[in-house]
Amino acid sequence: IGGLDDIIDSIKENVIYPLVYPNVFSKTSSLLSNPKGILLYGPPGCGKTMLAKAIAKESGANFINLHISTLTDKYYGESQKLVNALFSLAHKLEPTIIFIDEIDSFLRDRRSQDHEATAMMKAEFMSLWDGLVSDSSSRIIILGATNRPNDIDQAIIRRMPKRYSVQLPNLSQRVTLLKLMLKDAKLDENLKLEEIAKRTNHYSGSDIKELCRAAVMIPVREYIRSIDKDLNDAVIDTNDLRPVKLEDFFPSEKNDDFIRNATVELD
Ligand SMILES: Nc1ncnc2c1ncn2[C@@H]1O[C@H](COP(=O)(O)OP(=O)(O)OP(=O)(O)O)[C@@H](O)[C@H]1O
Ligand SMILES: [Mg+2]
Repeated sequence: IGGLDDIIDSIKENVIYPLVYPNVFSKTSSLLSNPKGILLYGPPGCGKTMLAKAIAKESGANFINLHISTLTDKYYGESQKLVNALFSLAHKLEPTIIFIDEIDSFLRDRRSQDHEATAMMKAEFMSLWDGLVSDSSSRIIILGATNRPNDIDQAIIRRMPKRYSVQLPNLSQRVTLLKLMLKDAKLDENLKLEEIAKRTNHYSGSDIKELCRAAVMIPVREYIRSIDKDLNDAVIDTNDLRPVKLEDFFPSEKNDDFIRNATVELD
């Protein structure tokens, strides 16, 4: 993960440590017990899902990646049982992080035309969640991620007092990302990553990754075209490839514009 060090540090201090080392914190005050809900929000492709997975790996807590579809059951009352099972499993595994990606699609405004069973499932979920909040010794965290924070029910937002905004990378974060993504590529010695970073204002982390992928592909494609061999026997040696140049990132201004416009339309 590149350029998110501040957020990572803050999550460690405020979330992971109280969760994993509760004795250090809770002896001092019950206000210092771990937060029960955390929300990661921000535009698509900026590393929210990635961040959650990194938290899972680093924290040493048990991690439940919750797909909401596993909680919805068409039989009356079954969904509630499943929600109960989820929380009791989480209790048994403490410390536990329950991760809900795209949380907006799950707990979207409850008033809108929900199936009755779904509405009851949500109500059950909320009440068990409240149980976590009132029990300061519980070591369970609900971690949600969304790129549409405005679509989330206010009641949910309230239960997620810790919120982290994961925004588009700024200039220096883009330099960090480029360094990270190009660390194994053979680069032209005149290539300045700062120059690419300057020209990629408003790119997300995943846009930058695609840009690098496309650029690094160009020398490979040239090489493949230059050899007459059957590709089955060809082994590409990176030493045979020419270094990646600035032009590879921005093949032609016109083409670049076209791609950017296309992206806007997709949105
Ligand atoms: N800060 C970053 N460091 C490294 N890679 C990144 C970063 N941000 C995004 N990426 C790349 O972009 C891809 C998409 O990121 P991710 O899935 O975490 O985005 P997201 O914020 O969850 O987006 P969405 O809101 O669409 O779910 C990642 O797999 C990764 O390759
Ligand atoms: Mg995501």
